[in-house]
Amino acid sequence: MQRNVQQKAAHVTTRRLLDMKQNGEKISVLTAYDYTMARILDGAGIDVILVGDSASNVFSGHNTTLPITIEEMIYHAKAVVRGVQAETGRAMVVIDMPFMSYQLSGEEALRNAGKIMKEHECDAVKLEGGRLIADTIKRITDVGIPVMGHLGLMPQSIYKYGSYKVRAREESEAEQLLEDARIVEQAGAFAVVLEKIPKKLAAEVTASLTIPTIGIGAGIECDGQVLVINDILGLNREFHPRFVRRYADLNTVIDDAVRQYVSDVKARSFPSADESY
Ligand code: KIV
Repeated sequence: MQRNVQQKAAHVTTRRLLDMKQNGEKISVLTAYDYTMARILDGAGIDVILVGDSASNVFSGHNTTLPITIEEMIYHAKAVVRGVQAETGRAMVVIDMPFMSYQLSGEEALRNAGKIMKEHECDAVKLEGGRLIADTIKRITDVGIPVMGHLGLMPQSIYKYGSYKVRAREESEAEQLLEDARIVEQAGAFAVVLEKIPKKLAAEVTASLTIPTIGIGAGIECDGQVLVINDILGLNREFHPRFVRRYADLNTVIDDAVRQYVSDVKARSFPSADESY
């Protein structure tokens, strides 16, 4: 299939996502951390690119999302925005606010959200949490910065949970999550990620909100789905949880290619005369 290089398309906005929910059109979201991948995702028609703090794991090799800094997130965000702009310009770009860049005070959260928005032309920021950060969401959205919420398994709180197990299986936590989703919506969020919760609960949250829900390990009833790009491309051999569908085995493809290259260099078959000047 030919890619639509240079052909500019209508940029996906928060309004467009709301329309998609209302029309029953599912929203596709993937993460990206660099220019090249952002170009490919935008050219292939993804609706939203999330510059996730999962960059801390899959890009930088940390065990959790906690170590990544706001400067590092901005670095990834700039590259992704450039990639989208170089391709069709259609995909919305959302940036994760990293751990401790919005928890200390509403004022600091606003300053950091502003910094993220000002340094490049991204569309929105994403924050993890419910009622505890409702005032912060309101403060950020009040100045015109769109906020995506994130409930269920919140990786920035991994040391509190102690594991990456499914959240809100118990009635009390499920009720709390439903209430948090309503609070996040009322605070002004334009969408909310639901991570690793039972599909029945995700369906209930989706039905009770006006804003779209974006699921990851949260079942088919969410208004959209998000996955980490490295996971769907099979770049990490060891990581294959139930909620990830692998669309390619790039680990094997790259491994084969590199082995062949090494062998060609050693055997003096690369570069050939045609590959030389
Ligand atoms: O950081 C991330 O990649 C995320 C998604 C998995 C939702 O928050």
